Amino acid sequence: MNESIPSSETAAAGRLPEEPPRRLKILHLEDSPVDALLVQEMLASENVDCEIIVVSEPADFERELAKGDVDVVISDYSLPRYCGTDALKRTREAGPETPFIFVSGSIGEERAVEAVRLGATDYVMKEHLRRLGLAVRRAVEAAESARRRREAETRLAEERNFLADVFSSVQDGIVVLDADLKIVQTNPTMEKLFPDRMPLAGKPGSLFCPGGDGSIAATTLREGRPAQSVCTMETAEGKGEFSVYSYPLLERSTGRQKGVILYLRNITHEHALQQQLFQSQKMESIGKLAGGVAHDFNNILQAIMGFSEILEGEIPEDDPRHADVLEIRKATDRAVALTRQLLAFSRKQVLNPVDLDMNGLVGNMGGMLQRLIGANFQLRYDFDSAPARVHGDTGQVEQVVLNLVVNARDAMPKGGEIAIATRQREVEEPEAAERGAPWRAGRFVCLSVKDTGTGIPPDVLARLFEPFFTTKEKGKGTGLGLSTVYGIVQQHGGWVDVKTQEGKGSTFTIYLPALGQEPPKGPAA
Ligand SMILES: Nc1ncnc2c1ncn2[C@@H]1O[C@H](COP(=O)(O)OP(=O)(O)OP(=O)(O)O)[C@@H](O)[C@H]1O
Ligand SMILES: [Mg+2]
Repeated sequence: MNESIPSSETAAAGRLPEEPPRRLKILHLEDSPVDALLVQEMLASENVDCEIIVVSEPADFERELAKGDVDVVISDYSLPRYCGTDALKRTREAGPETPFIFVSGSIGEERAVEAVRLGATDYVMKEHLRRLGLAVRRAVEAAESARRRREAETRLAEERNFLADVFSSVQDGIVVLDADLKIVQTNPTMEKLFPDRMPLAGKPGSLFCPGGDGSIAATTLREGRPAQSVCTMETAEGKGEFSVYSYPLLERSTGRQKGVILYLRNITHEHALQQQLFQSQKMESIGKLAGGVAHDFNNILQAIMGFSEILEGEIPEDDPRHADVLEIRKATDRAVALTRQLLAFSRKQVLNPVDLDMNGLVGNMGGMLQRLIGANFQLRYDFDSAPARVHGDTGQVEQVVLNLVVNARDAMPKGGEIAIATRQREVEEPEAAERGAPWRAGRFVCLSVKDTGTGIPPDVLARLFEPFFTTKEKGKGTGLGLSTVYGIVQQHGGWVDVKTQEGKGSTFTIYLPALGQEPPKGPAA
C-alpha cells in the first residue's frame, strides 16, 4: 500500500509555529488502513497542515525516505514484515534530525523508553491519539530549531576557519597581548620564526619589542596610539632584522582598549639590499673622486717625467746631480703605478679586450704565482672542463688574479693551500633579484680564489673594496689591491662575491660575462 492521503480542508487552516507556514510531508508506516485513517483524521482535527504518505512495505518506506523531503515519520511499532526499530534505524541513517514518532497500541512503557533511547523523537499510545497533533508540532519545531542551530554552528565554524586561515597566512609575525602586556595568542609565522621560544602564551610581550618599560607595546597601551621600532632578534634562520609595529587592540562593542597587537615584519633582506645599495653608491662616488684626481695627477706626472728625462740627458753621468734626477724618475714611476691602480678602481683604464679562456690565462700564470707566494703555499687548480671564455683585457684580468692570490697568501701567515677554480654558471632572474645589484641574470664565467686563512670580520668586510683601506701595517699594503679588482671586474661587466668565515677562511669569486653575453646596461658597462 502506498497512497497519498490529502489532508482535510480543515487542516489547511492549521498553523505551525514557524513562519512561513509550510505543508508538512508525513511518511506513515502502517499496515492497518483503519489505523492509517485514524491518524489522518486525528491530524486533521488538530489542524496539522500535511500530506500523508502511507506505506506498509519496507521497500516502499525506504524509497520514500530516500527522496529526502520527509518532514516527519510516524511508525507503528510492530508490523508483519518490518520491525519499528528497523524503520527508526533507517530514518536516522537517512537524516539524523528527521522527527520519528511511534504510534502503537502494543508498545509498553519500557519499550517506549527504549525507543526514545534508540533515537525516536516521541511515542504516542493509540489510546492517547489526541496527543499526536501536539507531538508532531513539537517534533517539527524541535527539528527546525536543531537545523537552524546546526546551520548557525556551521556558519560560525566557517567564519572561524576563514579567520584562522587569514591569521596563519599572514607572513608577518602577529602577537596579541592582554592589558598586562602578556602574550595571549600568536600566529603560526611566530612559531616558524621562534620555535625555541614556544610556547609563548603567558610570556611577556617585551620579548618581541625590546626597550623595557618604554617599549612600544607599553606606549601603545598607555597612550592608545600605534608605535613602531626596529630590532634585531635571533630567529630559526639566524639573526633577523625586524620592524615591530604595535597597535591598540580594541573591544568592538565598547571601543575600550583591552590589549595590544604586535606585528613583526622581517626586514633582514630589504635591510641587506639597502646596505648594498649604500655601499655601491659610496664606491661610485669614491670612484669618481679618485678617478678625477688620478687623471689630473697623471697629467702632472707626465710633465714631471718628461722634464726629468730632459734633465737626465742634460746632466752628465759623473755629475752628482745625475743620481738625484734618477731618484726623481724612480719616485715618479711609483707614483704613475699608483695612479694606474686608482684609474683601474674608477674604471677609467683603457681596456684592450680580446676573447680569452680563463683556464688558459690562470694556467699560464702558474709558475709566476708560485714564485710570488713562496714555497710555504700550495696552489691547487680546479678548472671547468669546458673552456671558460670571456671577452677581456688579459693584463687586467691577470692583475685581478694576482691581487686575489696575494691577499689569500697574506691571510695565511703560516702558509697553506690556495685553491683557484673556474666554473661556468647561469645566474637565474630570481637569484639575481634576491642578491640585488650588481648581480644580474645571464651566463657567467666564475673564477674563485679560496684560502683557509683568518677570514674577514664584519667591519673590514664593509670597507673591503675602498681604495686605501688596509688592515696591514704601514708599508705592507696600500689598500689598493681589492679596489683594483673591483674596478677591473666592474669595467668588464661583472662583480665580485665574497664568502668568508672568521677563523676559517675566505673565497673571493669574480663573475665575468661569458663570451657572447650582452654587456650590462647602465653606468657599470
Ligand atoms: N683573503 C683575505 N682574507 C682576509 N682578509 C682579506 C683578504 N683579502 C683582503 N683582506 C682584507 O682586506 C683589506 C684590503 O685588501 P686590499 O687587497 O685592498 O689591500 P691590502 O692587501 O691591504 O693592500 P695592497 O694594496 O697591498 O693589496 C686587507 O688589508 C685585509 O684586511
Ligand atoms: Mg691586497
